[in-house]
Amino acid sequence: MKHKRSDFPQGFQFGVATSSYQIEGHAQGGAGATHWDSFSATPGNVANAENGDVACDHYNRFVADLDLIKDAGFDAYRFSTSWARVQPEGRGPANPQGLDFYDRLTDALLERGIKPCATLYHWELPSTLADLGGWRNRDIANWFADFTEIIMGRIGDRMFSVAPINEPWCVSWLSHFEGHHAPGLRDIRATARAMHHVLLAHGRAIEVMRGLGMSNLGAVFNLEWSEPADNSPEAQSAAALYDGIYNRFFLGGVFNKAYPQNVLEGLAPHLPQGWQDDFDIIGAPVDWCGLNYYTRKLITHADTAWPALKEVPGPLPKTQMGWEIDPAALSRFLIRTARDHTGDLPIYVTENGMASPERRQDEDRIDYIDRHLAEVRRALDHGVPVKGYFVWSLLDNYEWALGYEKRFGLVDVDFDTLERKPKASYFALKNALSRS
Ligand code: FCB
Repeated sequence: MKHKRSDFPQGFQFGVATSSYQIEGHAQGGAGATHWDSFSATPGNVANAENGDVACDHYNRFVADLDLIKDAGFDAYRFSTSWARVQPEGRGPANPQGLDFYDRLTDALLERGIKPCATLYHWELPSTLADLGGWRNRDIANWFADFTEIIMGRIGDRMFSVAPINEPWCVSWLSHFEGHHAPGLRDIRATARAMHHVLLAHGRAIEVMRGLGMSNLGAVFNLEWSEPADNSPEAQSAAALYDGIYNRFFLGGVFNKAYPQNVLEGLAPHLPQGWQDDFDIIGAPVDWCGLNYYTRKLITHADTAWPALKEVPGPLPKTQMGWEIDPAALSRFLIRTARDHTGDLPIYVTENGMASPERRQDEDRIDYIDRHLAEVRRALDHGVPVKGYFVWSLLDNYEWALGYEKRFGLVDVDFDTLERKPKASYFALKNALSRS
């Protein structure tokens, strides 16, 4: 690895990220059913109909997993709390085993000198709430506020940082318009409602945590650089719309208290009534902004109903996901986000990494991380207050609709024996973090 810790400012945080359903083993510890359990049980939705029942069995093996984080020299760990583990019915009584689990996890992190960075929701919606319309139902903002109060009432006193929701675009567009993730809908009205309600729920959770006296609260967005496939005006405006839907809608809602005009042209008729009045909640001040970045897309016009756009295959080298590798877009995003949305607020790269079939000598991953770290440095040189970088992911895990085949881990997991084996990238990072 070319980079080393001392290439970055004093206090810059290096971390790894995971999420609950992808690693814990959801069938254990009294967790309630989630929409990912039923989505994955429906033929055709998930590779090999795999689910998160066992995953990496992190629920029972978290101590050893945290030792891996510590031994590599990481400063911080970004994990998520499963709503259905904490409240099996989505509303009402808490599951003591669930609360105890996150409590033990928190203390085990602190004992190892690792900063706990929590995400409240990383996609496993309790089934009972899905039955009530899930993210389509405005009431979800209050259900989510109650969940926030319960889980942060227990562990909030020891968090380094908290973000309510991982990747609002995935929660809403990918899951309600493209149908690729649970609940697998393809409906524009459902999508518009989910897009707005996910931000409303974010804002309510921030309110609740402020009420609990918590600080260092943020928001985590996934961004995809949108490039016109050619020079035609049609491709240019399709790419601008893709950028609006994917990136600017959510950043704009939280940081500018407004949605982009080109998105509203198609979406406004489907948004819930009175959406314009919710921005004081949605845009409640936060303390930092998290960006998850993996790839870019080439976009052009399509002869369809709104948004009338489509992706075209690009020429860049691709990861195991088929995603083009475009590190330069990371610095463009960091610079643009500070300029257009966040100003002087700290920015963290809360996810970056690649899937590779290489289970030991993952030189491709080392190169990917190195090239993206170079772009973080470029943004720092431009004066962007980037405060940390988290690799997705510590372990190979349940990659949602793609099951267990796509491996993002610094540590290999054998899904038959659940044995963990650090890859070359793990050792490369360990070495880089110890070098000054
Ligand atoms: C992100 C998700 C994470 C993982 C990576 C590859 O969008 O937050 O759970 O699936 O992509």
